[in-house]
Amino acid sequence: MSSTLFDNVKKIIAEVEASHPQNAEELEVFRIRYLGTKNIVKPLFAEMKNVEPGDRKAYGLLLNEAKSAAEAAYQKFEAAVTGAEQAEGPAFDLTAPAYPAKLGSRHPVSIVMNQIIQIFQRIGFDVVENREIEDEWHNFTALNTPEDHPARDMTDTYYLKYDLTRVLRSQTSTVQVHEMENRQPPIRIISPGRVYRNETISARAHCQFHQVEGLYVDEDVSFADMKQVLYYFAQQLYGDDVKIRLRPSFFPFTEPSAEVDVYWGLETEADYRMTKGTGWLEILGCGMVDPNVLEMCGIDSERYTGFAFGMGIERQAMRKYKIEDIRMLFENDVRFLKQFTAAF
Ligand code: DAH
Repeated sequence: MSSTLFDNVKKIIAEVEASHPQNAEELEVFRIRYLGTKNIVKPLFAEMKNVEPGDRKAYGLLLNEAKSAAEAAYQKFEAAVTGAEQAEGPAFDLTAPAYPAKLGSRHPVSIVMNQIIQIFQRIGFDVVENREIEDEWHNFTALNTPEDHPARDMTDTYYLKYDLTRVLRSQTSTVQVHEMENRQPPIRIISPGRVYRNETISARAHCQFHQVEGLYVDEDVSFADMKQVLYYFAQQLYGDDVKIRLRPSFFPFTEPSAEVDVYWGLETEADYRMTKGTGWLEILGCGMVDPNVLEMCGIDSERYTGFAFGMGIERQAMRKYKIEDIRMLFENDVRFLKQFTAAF
């Protein structure tokens, strides 16, 4: 009885030694037969009880030998089979150069918007957002824009078809009103977002664009504070050697009001076109919050003063990257967009 069992194991060892799997398929057959969960060596272990006690140690050693022989053979064959497949032209050439990975990049408007946010966050401004569909109170009335002001004309502002008391906000200044209605000073916020205007689309204007609003209301906030904050902003966004200028202007919700220009240059024909022949590009409107506005929003104008500003983000992107047509920023031409790579 014992000797037959010994012979069976020896037969398996011989079989293993005689095997020569030639390809992955035959290799798998080999693996299943000798090393799989139902391999043919396994049942022979169970025969141990039928071996003469004196022979059991030898039988065990022989079984282990069969197992190791199968394992060693498998490893050898596996190396040979994969080697052969590679030599005859495998599915992939691991040495071939990789296809370039198509990485997306941020849109220039997002890049500049994030930069602006960070610049103001560094000096303590909080970022807040608010709705794009507004009532006339927040878009106009509370911003000291009387009923007969031309900006209320249907041609500038989009009114909702089904509710003529509601508009697509034409400026992020609406957020100033929400903030002042909801809390008392000190208020120091910026608010980025989309605005809409019924404008003819051209190289300089679009019917939909982005603004960042800023508002700082506290005791003793002065025009000088505003100038310093805006100069800091321009230096951070455009570089320390940036040249800016303030021009007196008019906005219903600020008094006094100003516009800030940044120097663009005046060398090429495009420079003339972009700056209307002045070399300067207007980048934002600003001013001291009109006491009427403070009062309408429930803030004591005897105690508090504040400044506000609003800038077009596309404008900043155009100045920063010298983009000469605002439409480029909305057309999503990949050849244009992929020139902008930034970490944020
Ligand atoms: N809302 C103005 C616009 O869209 C920009 C602006 C001007 C905002 C003066 C302000 C400001 O907050 O004080 O043209």
